[in-house]
Amino acid sequence: MKYDFHEIIDRSENNSLKYDELDSMFGRKDLYSLWVADMDFKVAPAIQKALEDKVKEGIYGYTSRPDSYYGSMVNWYNRRYNWNIDKDLVLHSPSVVSSLSLMVQEFTKPGDKIIIQPPVYYPFSNVVKNHGRKLVLNPLKEVDGKYYMDYEDLEEKIDENTKLLILCNPHNPVGRVWTKEELEKLGNICIKKGVKIVSDEIHGDLTLWGRRYTPLGSISEEFRKNTITCLSTSKTFNLAGVQASFIVVPDKEDFEKLDRVMGLYDVSRNNCFSLVAVEAALTHGEEWLEELLVYLGENIEFLIDYCKNHMPKIVPNKPEGTYLVWLDCSNLNMTTKELDDFMINKAKVALDSGFWFGREGKKYMRINVACSRELIKMALDSMKRAYDQL
Ligand SMILES: Cc1ncc(COP(=O)(O)O)c(C=O)c1O
Repeated sequence: MKYDFHEIIDRSENNSLKYDELDSMFGRKDLYSLWVADMDFKVAPAIQKALEDKVKEGIYGYTSRPDSYYGSMVNWYNRRYNWNIDKDLVLHSPSVVSSLSLMVQEFTKPGDKIIIQPPVYYPFSNVVKNHGRKLVLNPLKEVDGKYYMDYEDLEEKIDENTKLLILCNPHNPVGRVWTKEELEKLGNICIKKGVKIVSDEIHGDLTLWGRRYTPLGSISEEFRKNTITCLSTSKTFNLAGVQASFIVVPDKEDFEKLDRVMGLYDVSRNNCFSLVAVEAALTHGEEWLEELLVYLGENIEFLIDYCKNHMPKIVPNKPEGTYLVWLDCSNLNMTTKELDDFMINKAKVALDSGFWFGREGKKYMRINVACSRELIKMALDSMKRAYDQL
């Protein structure tokens, strides 16, 4: 491999949420940190070089976006996913979660219903509730360790007050890369019933073992018109800290609405570092990404084998995408509190508790495998020592 994903990097001086907030999140610091979706890998060298060049300029004033910035994004989606995005209908947003929040604010009224599909990335429910909208759950169905959408339940739950569905494509935490057919079924129901879809596609590039990510808005003109898509380089290239993402908007009216609100809060400009980091990632990062995906796939296989051989009551769901693995811990027969206590105080690992993603997740934990395999082995050995004491 050309790029080194094996190195264990000390992030203690990195001002990193993943490490510095262990104590406040989990009540102790001496944990293997495999929680929040943030990779322990250094970025692709081309990104680091672009940032170094920017630092050398020595002037970090207000920014203006060059055409090449949006151009790099349009080319990326066109080349990799055959999706033609109109750059005049793309907005900048500091983060996907801020985009979700703004869209809930702009496209719904207090009391309107918004659907999510739990277990799902927990800010989805927070943004709905925090804006005083009604949360409607259309839980995924699990069959033999694989999750599916429940279309019948969805049809039943949509009524005239349902305005939005927030989709996670691919899905965090269950790791499904929704197929075109699955998305078509979902999209057709929403179009028929007049429900707009906000599709969070932040994990779209992180597909494993040849799975293909289908951008919802690329399926047809009808789908494009009914979909607002959130995209970002932050998961793919480990750039969450530079705070830049894109919103692909279907029409001028929605674009102007969102543009106005971005202006209102004065969040429409990139910081100068995000401008060069994102463009370098999308222009020069593909080879690094392809190697990363191989390494992540091997980490997941390593984790699955390890659990099978040493901790058979912890069963990883093999994901089709993302670097997050959903661990079925139901055979441990623990309450959520006991499971948390076991992972934190006995196994000494910081994982995302499944119930954060909805009550459907309460017998699960989510583990982040985007780090050196050696670190994963150390964390799993620590879990095994606690497991052997049960
Ligand atoms: C599905 C999903 N959406 C959004 C985010 C966060 O994105 P941002 O940092 O751009 O708000 C994450 C991070 O884990 C995620 O998994």
